[in-house]
Amino acid sequence: MKTEKEIILEAILSDRRNGIKLYPREYLPVISPYGDRNKALNRIQRVFSDNREAINEASDSTRCIEDNTSIEEYFDYAKTGKLLNARLENFKYNKRVKFSDPTVIVFSSDVHLGSAGCDYDSCMEDFRFIKDNDVKIVSVGDTGEMKKEFPKNLFSILSQVLSPDMQSDLIAKLFKALKPQILGAIEGNHGANSRSGNEHAESIAAKAAGVDYFQGNCLLEIDVDGAKYRIFARHKPMSSSKLSPLIGARKMATMESADCFVCSHIHRPTFGVDWVLGKKRVCIITGTYNTSANYSRVGYGEYSARDEFPALLLFPKEKKMMVFASMRDAVKHRNLIMQ
Ligand SMILES: [Fe+2]
Ligand SMILES: [Fe+2]
Repeated sequence: MKTEKEIILEAILSDRRNGIKLYPREYLPVISPYGDRNKALNRIQRVFSDNREAINEASDSTRCIEDNTSIEEYFDYAKTGKLLNARLENFKYNKRVKFSDPTVIVFSSDVHLGSAGCDYDSCMEDFRFIKDNDVKIVSVGDTGEMKKEFPKNLFSILSQVLSPDMQSDLIAKLFKALKPQILGAIEGNHGANSRSGNEHAESIAAKAAGVDYFQGNCLLEIDVDGAKYRIFARHKPMSSSKLSPLIGARKMATMESADCFVCSHIHRPTFGVDWVLGKKRVCIITGTYNTSANYSRVGYGEYSARDEFPALLLFPKEKKMMVFASMRDAVKHRNLIMQ
């Protein structure tokens, strides 16, 4: 079994020998999007700096094009992208799951449980719907409000209706109740306390409930009776724009390889389909239950925050995805095709 360093170095040297010079960040897919992107990038940069001599040597070697590759083969590589796609097969998944029937996945996030601005009625209604209709969930962060200054500062007391401890307990209970349906929980920014070295509140709740918990980026593979779907999710979008809330997810779609890209954090639900390198990619931004909080209102315009959570319907056998603004519509379609 090769070490991560060896895998990175091998990829760099092979590229250099073929006259290809890439930036360190372009080797991220070689190892994995697992965990913290910045830390992964540091590890790649270290391989570059530790092996400068070998890399320079590989770059200097006279580049030779294998003369047994025909024009038709080159055109075939260009058209199908199969040489590059072969590299993507080395992706490491955070989690792989299998289902046999058409599957609905909702991307839930930004519940902000414990905040004064959370719409608890809407949240409870969705919780029951998810439970009763076998909807699978990827939780994309900020499940709790977790104002960590509690109870030292007045704002943190007035904006929270449950204490952080109670929030943690409630998150663990919700995770436990939905455990068979939760594919994973991804870290958000509420509850993060990395500077003091404390564990993220949501991580503690996920552990208590036995739910898989991921930091930073998360890559899931969902196999629905042989049709494989890659879902790439992270809490914060990679960039933002008031005019186009989808831009953070669309940017990820140009940098990573997956069928569906999901971000949360901006509380403004939307979705779209992009074509990248000839492949259909679904981009999703999730909503929030914290619809009356100041952040939801001022960040992206008054009233744009909504308690809508786009959902995917994944078909079995042959790869086919449908994206819905509401999980209720996705469930209706799933039930229709299963009749
Ligand atoms: Fe949030
Ligand atoms: Fe957030």
